[in-house]
This record gives sequence, structure tokens and C-alpha cells, in this order.
Amino acid sequence: MDLWQIIHDMTLEEKASLCSGENNWDTKAVESQAVPSIRMSDGPHGVRRQDNYQTRGEKPTTRPSVCFPVAAALGASFDRVLLNRVGTLLGEEALANDVQVLLGPGVNMKRSPLCGRNFEYYSEDPFLTGELAAAYIQGLQSQGVSACVKHFAANNQEYRRMSADSIVDERTLREIYLPAFEAAVRQGRAHSVMCSYNRLNGTYACENEWLLTDVLREEWGFNGVVVTDWGAMNDRCRALEAGLNIEMPSSNGVTDKNIVDAVRSGKLDEAMLDKRVYETLRWTEWCYSGRRTDTETPYDRHDLAARAIAGECAVLLKNEDGILPLADGQKIVFIGEYAESPRFQGGGSSHITCTKVTPALEASAEYADVEYVRMFTDEGRDDKTWDMAISAAEKADVAVVFAGLPTSYESEGFDRSHLNLPDYQEEAIEAIAAVQPNLVVVLHNGSPVTLRNIDKIKGLLEMYLAGQAVGGAAADILFGKVNPSGKLAETFPLRLEDNPTYPDYAKNKTEVRYSEGQYIGYRYYDSRNMDVLFPFGHGLSYTSFKLKNLRISAEKIKEDDSLTVSVDIKNTGVRAGKEVIQLYIGYDGEDHVGRPVRQLKGFEKVRLEPGEIKTVMFYLDKRSFAYYNTEISDWYAESGRYTIYIGTSSRDLPVKCSVELVAKPLPLKLDDTLTVGDILEFTDDREVLEKLSPMVSRFTGDFSGLDGKEHRQMFSHMLDGLPLHSVKSFSNTTDEDIEAVYEFLRRLNEQ
Ligand code: BGC
Repeated sequence: MDLWQIIHDMTLEEKASLCSGENNWDTKAVESQAVPSIRMSDGPHGVRRQDNYQTRGEKPTTRPSVCFPVAAALGASFDRVLLNRVGTLLGEEALANDVQVLLGPGVNMKRSPLCGRNFEYYSEDPFLTGELAAAYIQGLQSQGVSACVKHFAANNQEYRRMSADSIVDERTLREIYLPAFEAAVRQGRAHSVMCSYNRLNGTYACENEWLLTDVLREEWGFNGVVVTDWGAMNDRCRALEAGLNIEMPSSNGVTDKNIVDAVRSGKLDEAMLDKRVYETLRWTEWCYSGRRTDTETPYDRHDLAARAIAGECAVLLKNEDGILPLADGQKIVFIGEYAESPRFQGGGSSHITCTKVTPALEASAEYADVEYVRMFTDEGRDDKTWDMAISAAEKADVAVVFAGLPTSYESEGFDRSHLNLPDYQEEAIEAIAAVQPNLVVVLHNGSPVTLRNIDKIKGLLEMYLAGQAVGGAAADILFGKVNPSGKLAETFPLRLEDNPTYPDYAKNKTEVRYSEGQYIGYRYYDSRNMDVLFPFGHGLSYTSFKLKNLRISAEKIKEDDSLTVSVDIKNTGVRAGKEVIQLYIGYDGEDHVGRPVRQLKGFEKVRLEPGEIKTVMFYLDKRSFAYYNTEISDWYAESGRYTIYIGTSSRDLPVKCSVELVAKPLPLKLDDTLTVGDILEFTDDREVLEKLSPMVSRFTGDFSGLDGKEHRQMFSHMLDGLPLHSVKSFSNTTDEDIEAVYEFLRRLNEQ
């Protein structure tokens, strides 16, 4: 189809109509040109296909679909193949429900563990998030269903999310908040992006030209469609100019008319409107060509898949005395309502009406005869069964408490105010621990919790919100059919107050200052060498692994070279299992720019039979070593030594090696912050030294009376930090002398 011809044949009103939705989920059709309507649906961990939404006043109904583990759980899988599979399964369900666009994945960073929507996001790490999101998108889009990556960008809290202004410096954006979107676009080739509600550095995301055009379209090469988050529109024409295509859910005809009026009055260039319509038509064509009307979801197969997937995500946080897996013949009691009615998803737009729910209690019947006493519910103590639970625990060999965050704690639209489990659950854990030392706790939560009775718990299994089959997966792990292999994709801090965002989080009605910069999550805790409850990347297995035989393709590289690192991993236990090998990089040179001590730059999940050895390869490139330098508006890998750490958690990195990187030096910044030390570090050119030396010796003359090592040291540091233009305040150097040095350096910069 010649899309430009269609645009040419459309009326102005028809073109403007394509810039907003028809209703809650559909784009508008243009009948005169046979442009079809496209149907969207939430996402991200199930297909929330609604009916009866087309007519205002009617109550929409939601079709049942399979609820897969939420992103927080999927993040813990550290498994690209798994994410690709989840995307594919969701694509199948979307197709069967005549949905062309699934609103997901959500790739915002977990800046604070309090964010109410963290369950919908993968991780506090941008590399991990980007890799997983790209795999999910590829799976989803392989079915002909468009992904819609959200929420672009710097939308990291729910508190006043529709108006807050995220104040984030460019380097932090580039290193932390944008890379996952970049991977979703560049690697995942996402066909659509959803802009966020918030403002970014003073401009609403929907009309932020830097974000939507300079970065997204021009730098990353995105040629799909940008839709608003539902209701995230401010100025329609400005948004169009900034790079936004479709206002969702609908403009009620108002902003379409604004567009028409603006074109007629000459305020908006029609060519700009045509460009946006062209992008929309191209996307419509792609989405529509994938449409199928002959498929049905094999719900039972998907439910089984959801169980297996949930099993890959669960993180075994603690396993003292090898209390898990539970042994044959043990007298086991399950306690807590989540054993019979689990929490498995969060609240808000992602909420799925699922096809069925498998509680752990029901699934455990496949393995053992388990006693169950409720003791507490999602809402509080169950006084009727409280004492019964304690006495059942006392008589049992092991007690398994199903705990977690109540439904009312975690949802889109608001943030948590603390990290604690509810008091009644802590009291239950304490009461059970007092009579039964063999205590296992299974957690159902979308983001980190602190546990005041952690020392009394022998086995701790983090299931996250693992979708409708969560109970099946929990039983599979508790009874040892599945060997846990999840790793935390976020740090569990010891206290909320330890989190770098704590002092300011949700304490300002208009602005969110990202003052901690790139130091979020483990980047902060590791750089400050702080203790945490459970570190990023942590997760135990029923077997054990050993890493050895690290090899590196070169010991010295240039900035544009790539580097291959490989390591052998052996399953040293007696069960088959999977391990996630994690690679972090830290800069060993003198840090003049502020860098986290180590950052994740590679991960691979492998499955090993007992005794089996596999070699894992990592491919590193300039970006793996670089920070974002705003002076040159590019990634820069500085010369110096870097340590490459490999291990199985951010705090367990037994294998390491180092590489020397040689890079072209950055041009000197020739403004009044330029110091003598900067010049000496940059060049040993004789001419410049000759120019500098008389000036400096006049300066040194002032201090000739000082003696002793510490004075010399003090003096040399002062000289290092002395701005070139200030030399004249200490000596009779002239402006011309100084200008001559600047001029010389200018020439050096250009070479
Ligand atoms: C959410 C989006 C969601 C949309 C449609 C918004 O409130 O922020 O994530 O896709 O609603 O339900």
C-alpha cells in the first residue's frame, strides 16, 4: 500500500482523527481509505482483553486469560529464553483475543523499593531489564502482536505520577533510566512506546522533543508509534511536534479539532501531521497484517507453562541446614491464607481475570499429605485458628508459613510507605518459631520486604507475585521437583532508611529530584560498602556450583575493541540445577567522574547435570566499560585498568581478572575550570610545559619558604587544582601568557 498516497487522499479531519483513540482500547479507522482500527490491551503479564467498552455508559467486562508471573518475578529469572517464551505465549493469547497491541513490557527502574508499581517492573539494573525486555518483545512480536514499551521515561514512583516533574541529569538518564528503553527499541525492535504521565526536567513526557525525537527516533532509530499513557496528554500540537502519535484513550474529539484548527491557522505545519500519520499508518499496517481470527488459546497448556515459568523465577533466599526441599515422610503443616488463596498479581491496569488459580495447598497433594491451619488472612489475624496453628506447628516436623504483602499494599496509583510485613504476619512467624525451629516462610510480594524475625526463619522462599500457577510452582520447589534458580533482580535492604532515595522520596508535591544520580540499588549499597538483607543477584539452589578457569581474549584492548571472557562452571552437587553466572565491571583508575564500584555487564543462565561442566562466554564491548560523558554527548570508555568480576551474586564474585583499556583522551575542557593538573595530565608536550613552567615557578616562588614533605605534598595538590586563569593572582603572569596556553591547547584539542 502506498501510505503517502493514502495520506494525500485523506481529509485534514481524517488525518487528525488518527491522532487519538476511538475509545478505551481502539485506534480510529478511516473508512474512506480502508484504514483499519487497531485494538490494544493491557499487559504486561496477561492479556486483559475487555468487551463492552465501545459504548460509553456500558460496563466493560474482562475476558479470562492466563496470568503469568509479574515482571518482578520474571526479572528474577535472569533468563532471556524464558522471557522470549513468555512474550510468545502472551502473543498467542493476544491473537486469539483479536488484540494487536499488548501494553507492555514495563521497563522502568526500581529507584525506590516503595514504588507501588515495582511489581510491574523487572529490576533496579538497566542492563538486566533491557536484555529481558528485548527478549520478551521479540517473543511477543514474533506472533505478529506489537509490544508497547512503557512508561517512557523517568516514571519511578506512583505518588503524583500524573504531574510530578522528574529532575534527572543527563548522565543519570543515559546510564540508568534510558538504557532499558534503548534495548527494547534497538534489540527488541519494539513497534510502539508509551510515554509516561510525568514531566521530565520541566516538560511533560508527551511533549518532550528531546526524549521522543532526538533520543528515541533519531538516536535509537525508532520508527514506530508513540502513544500516551492513558490520559497523559497536555498540549496536543506540541506533542505531535515532539514526536508523539496517538493520544489514548481518546481525545473526545477535542484535541483532534485542535490539530485541525492549528493546521488551518498555520500554527502547525501540515507536513508534521503527515509525518506522524505516516508513522501511524505504517504501524497499523504491521499490526493488522499479524491479525488472526482462527486461533484459540490452549488455556490448559498456558497454565502449565505459567507454572513452569513461575518455578524458574522463585528465589531461594535462605536455606539453613538444608531445610528445603522438604523430605519424604515429614509431618508438614502449612499456615497462612496464601496457602489456600495465594497473592499472585498486583492491583491496577495489569490486573488479570485469570482462568484458574492453583494454591500451594492444592498442588501439594501431588507430593504429600499436608495439614493446613489458616492462622491469618490477607487482612489480619484469624483468631479462631491462631492457637490451633501454633499447636499444629508444635506437633509437626516442619512448619511452612505462607506470608507476603496484602493486596491493599501494592498497586498502581500509590506507593508503599514502609517495607515491613504486616505486624500480624510477623507475630504469627514469631509465635510459630517459638514452638517450631524448622520454619520455612514462603513470600508473596511484588517488591522487597524487611523481616524482623529473619533469624528465626530457616528456609525463605521468595515467590514474588508469580501468576495464577504460583501455588503449583511453590509446591514443586518446596518438595524438590524443581530446583530453585531465581536470583534477586533488586536489593533487599536492611532498612528502608538505607535506600538512597529515602530522605526525599514522595516528599515533594511537584518535583522529584533524582539527587542520588546513578547510585540506585546495588550501585549505591556496594559503593558505600553497606550491609544489606539480601544482595542483588542473590539466590540459592539445592545443588552447588563452582566457577573456575577464567579466560580473557586480551589483556590490553583499545576502546573500540571487543573482549571475550569465558569461565567454566561445574555442578558440584548431586542434583541437576541452573545457575546464573553474573559479570560485573569496576574501574580501578582514579575516578574523576563518579562511578559505581561495580556494574552488571553480563549474565548467563545455564543448566547443569550433577558433575557437568559448561563454558560460559561473555562478549564485552566499549559500552560495557563506558560511562556517558555529557561533554562529548557520547559513551566514553576511559583509559585505565578495569576489573572484571564473575560470580553468582553481586556479593559473591570469586573469580576475577583485569584488563587494560587504552582510549583516545577526551578533549580538554577549555573554560575557566581548567587547572594546571588537568593540563599536565592531558599532555607532556614540551611547548606547553615551556609556556607553563615560568608561570608556575613564579607561583611556586611564593611558597619557597615552606619545607617538609607534607608541605611539598600540599603544594603539589594546590598546584594540581589551581585554575589556569588564577595563576595570575599569585604571580605576575599576564593575560596574554595565559591566553597563549589556552590557544596552544585549543590546537592540541583539534589534533
Ligand atoms: C497505566 C498504563 C496502562 C494504561 C491502560 C494507565 O493508567 O499507567 O500502564 O497501560 O493505564 O490501562
